[in-house]
Amino acid sequence: MMMVFAGFETTTNLLGNGLLLLARHPDQAQTLREQPHLIPAAIEEMLRIEAPVQRLSRMAAADFELPDKRIRKGELMFLLTGAANHDFAPFPDPERFDIHRAPTGYLAFGDWIHTCPGAALARLGAEIAFTALLARSTSIPLAQPPRRHDNLSVRALKELSLTLT
Ligand code: HEM
Repeated sequence: MMMVFAGFETTTNLLGNGLLLLARHPDQAQTLREQPHLIPAAIEEMLRIEAPVQRLSRMAAADFELPDKRIRKGELMFLLTGAANHDFAPFPDPERFDIHRAPTGYLAFGDWIHTCPGAALARLGAEIAFTALLARSTSIPLAQPPRRHDNLSVRALKELSLTLT
């Protein structure tokens, strides 16, 4: 059941967030139509800039010190991975969607021992979907302003209305 829930909503949100990025950047969508081999790199950038999972939580297994804070064993911590994906040291001009950026080291799939085991499947699903959509469309502008879910952990669209030509 965890595989189904961890894999379904997240991938749905990658598709929604990615579609919105393509709708808002028609020039880059056109580049992807002309050069579909760039689609996998564009998906990495979608995952960085609009990560479906924005926040992870952990419970401290032991006391430890951060530069400005002491964490005690048992305390709950929220890790703002979505913010880390917009850190301008590794990602210059982080608010700019750039299909040529080919980002690495971003945290959309977590890190270390709990790194997402479904990452390859999610990337493959997104590549198939965006390749098919771009091949069969000439433009995908927004029909109405999108509406987002009000959620700090999950970056997800409630409604995305597009005009597909
Ligand atoms: C774009 C799609 C996806 C995103 C953004 C995503 C994101 C994540 C993140 C951030 C974690 C780490 C959670 C943590 O450290 O607390 C994670 C773990 C996990 N993901 Fe994904 N995921 C995606 C797709 C999938 C798919 C397709 C599957 C399964 C088919 C899956 C199954 C899991 C499972 C089972 C874990 C728990 C791993 C563990 O705790 O060791 N995910 N995912």
